[in-house]
Amino acid sequence: MRDHCRFSGRSRNRASARVDWPVDLLEETALNSGWPRLPRRLVLAGGSHPFIPEREMTKLTIVAFDGTRHDLDVENGSTVMENAVRNSVPGIEAECGGACACATCHVYVDDAWSAAVGAPEAMEEDMLDFAYDVRPTSRLSCQIKMSEALDGLIVHVPERQA
Ligand code: FES
Repeated sequence: MRDHCRFSGRSRNRASARVDWPVDLLEETALNSGWPRLPRRLVLAGGSHPFIPEREMTKLTIVAFDGTRHDLDVENGSTVMENAVRNSVPGIEAECGGACACATCHVYVDDAWSAAVGAPEAMEEDMLDFAYDVRPTSRLSCQIKMSEALDGLIVHVPERQA
């Protein structure tokens, strides 16, 4: 049986249409014409395709204050705060939504990961002055972007936010 990729597309003269493209036909088309020459308005709606890179995933562990571990598979480029909120990890409030303006996403980076995560930038450091019980490994989780280099990162949620 052929694998299919589902696309939705719209042309000037036609109504919106959904098309299931056989993957092998799509591959052949892409190889012969080059991906950029395929209709621009095609939008991948599901499944994966060899010409569209899948987002890389990494592991992130957030340890809540009560010791509960939240082991997450997260997208590279996302922040620790975004993943904590998305997964309802208790103790991360993130009132400013990641604008580095509230210090309610404070975490302690696990000692083993401190060097890899690095030090906060000046703005984050200023904001950390408003956090509760700041330690040498304190960071604002909205400023830590996941990447391959941080695969397996562990952070700890403090007793409370500011
Ligand atoms: S979410 Fe507000 S400083 Fe991180």
